[in-house]
Parts: sequence; structure tokens; C-alpha cells
Amino acid sequence: MSLKTRVTELLNIEYPIIQGGLAYLAYADLAAAVSNAGGLGQITAMSLQNPEELRKEIRRARTMTDKPFGVNFAIGQHGRPFEQMVKVAIEEKVPVISVTGGNPKGVLDLIHGHDIKKLVLVAAARQAEKAEELGADAVMVVGQEGGGHLGRGDVGSFILTPQVAERVTIPVIASGGIVDGRGLMAALSLGAEGIEMGTRFIATKETQAHTNYKQAILDAAETDTVVIKRSIGAPARALRNEWTEHILEIEKQEAGYDSLKEYISGKANQKYINEGDATEGFGWAGQSAARIHDLPTVQTLIQRIIKEAEAIKDKWSN
Ligand SMILES: Cc1cc2nc3c(=O)[nH]c(=O)nc-3n(C[C@H](O)[C@H](O)[C@H](O)COP(=O)(O)O)c2cc1C
Repeated sequence: MSLKTRVTELLNIEYPIIQGGLAYLAYADLAAAVSNAGGLGQITAMSLQNPEELRKEIRRARTMTDKPFGVNFAIGQHGRPFEQMVKVAIEEKVPVISVTGGNPKGVLDLIHGHDIKKLVLVAAARQAEKAEELGADAVMVVGQEGGGHLGRGDVGSFILTPQVAERVTIPVIASGGIVDGRGLMAALSLGAEGIEMGTRFIATKETQAHTNYKQAILDAAETDTVVIKRSIGAPARALRNEWTEHILEIEKQEAGYDSLKEYISGKANQKYINEGDATEGFGWAGQSAARIHDLPTVQTLIQRIIKEAEAIKDKWSN
């Protein structure tokens, strides 16, 4: 079955499946595995300490795959010098750059004129229109179900995806709550031309994360994630644990950023990712965790999604 869309064409990939930027989880190994399996893998730039580390990571990915992959920039976070990192990605001729977490103009202007495809992750229709105006080649639209940072409007993927597809002419990639062939076909039906998945890719063999984090995803029910950081205008979805309960307590008291910063820091995030202690840190995950039940290789996962999508398409055509 052909799943060719404007997204597969734009990104020069076999299947319209993109691995989302995953802070402190998406390094060369995962990116290469996704790209080798026919999707688009991404290295998350802001997880790396400096531009030269990014250069090394891009070169490491190239030793593992000759397929296209992307570099993701979550700007406005971590206080890192993203301009220098974008320049490294340009020098290393990465085929795709994605940007989120703030006004994408700075990054898009730097890439302008280079042969690099520009993806912008948005969480509202207005942001999608803006991204198109600024020259994005495609938008990824994340709904409220998703893991990590979300829009402030609490709008789910079933509303956002078709709304954005109606308002922009560039291809739309649906993100948030997708784990399988059903999600892929639903996204295509809603007007998207590809999907981006985050949480699903954490629960794979290739992702380097503590087994407790992966197990917590496997064990999670649909009510086992919480939105933290809402009180500081940056809502983001994480697995519910002792640490996030404490964060929510502080937020209830409207104590402000200074009281929160230690608890919501990249350090607390990394501590959980690497050590898996739910009393000492947090891990981002979407409601999609409830629908994740195994730890396949990336190749097995992507092949399974395609087979499921094919079965649905067959069923529809009978
Ligand atoms: C652990 C984790 C870290 C994330 N970090 C980033 C990031 O650095 N940059 C980014 O663009 N998106 C980030 N996201 C969002 C994902 O790219 C994607 O939009 C989201 O996971 C989609 O929802 P899903 O988890 O239901 O698939 C992150 C998501 C998770 C779960």
C-alpha cells in the first residue's frame, strides 16, 4: 500500500512517520534507527551542551544511517545559544530542521536560502498560519493529549488537526496521542499528511532511558499523566508521580517560577530519565502511554504501524 503524501515527498522518506524531538532522549542512535526504518528520526539539539557536541552527534548519526534525519530546536528553553547550534546544523547540511517553543522566525531566517526543510511544531491554528507566513515547509500540530509541552488552549488533536489543515496550504503533520496504525489512518482522515510520535518512541529498545521510565509508560492508564507548569504559562504533560504531585502542590499555592524552577528543571527531568527514581524527578509522557504495551525495536514498531494501516485501508475498501 502506498502511504506517499506530500510529507514523504518533502522529507524524502518512505513512511509519513516522524519521531518527535525528545529532550534528553533523542540522540543519534534513536534518530538513525527511525530513519533506517523508513521514518524521519530527529536529534534534539537542546539536550546537548554546546554546538560542537551537536556537530559530533550529527556526524555520529551519519555513521549509522545514510537516510535523511532532522535536528530539533526547542527554543526558549534551557538558555542555550540556539543560533550557534542552528549554524552547526546548516554547516553539517542536515536535511531537516524542526523548531518549537517560541517564535520560529529567528531559526527560519537563519536557515533561509539553504537546502533544509523547515518544520514548525505548533499547538494552535493561528500559530500554524504564522509558521506558514514565515516560510515553514510543513507544520506539526500537537494536541492536548501529547507528551511534553502543549498549547495553552487545551485543544485536542481531533479538533486541531482538521482546523489547521483547513487554514494552511502547507502539509500538516498530526502529533499527540498517536501510537499505531489506527492513529496514522485517523490523522490522514483528519487532513494530516503524516504523524509525529513522542511517547511511543520512548518505549522502544533503542531509546536510552531507565527501565523504570519505560515500565511506567507500559503500566500507565489514560489518567496517569498530569499537566504541570500551567501556572507559569507553559503547560506540559508528564507521568504522574511523587515529584509531579509536589509540583502541582506548589502550583496550587501560586508560588511562582522561583519556587518551581528546581522541580521543573532539565536536571530533574534527566535524573528521572537516567535513574528512574519517581521521588527525585519527572518524565514527560502523553496520554498515549495508556495504549503502549510493549518495547519493540523501532523497525518492528514502524512495520507494525504500516501493516495496521494497510489492514484498515483494506477494510475500508471492501
Ligand atoms: C519525553 C518528551 C520530550 C519531548 N521533548 C521535545 C523537544 O525537545 N522538542 C520538541 O519539539 N518536542 C518535544 N516533545 C513533544 C514531542 O515531540 C511530540 O510532539 C509529542 O510527544 C506528541 O505526543 P505523544 O507523546 O502523544 O506522541 C517531547 C515529548 C516527550 C514525551
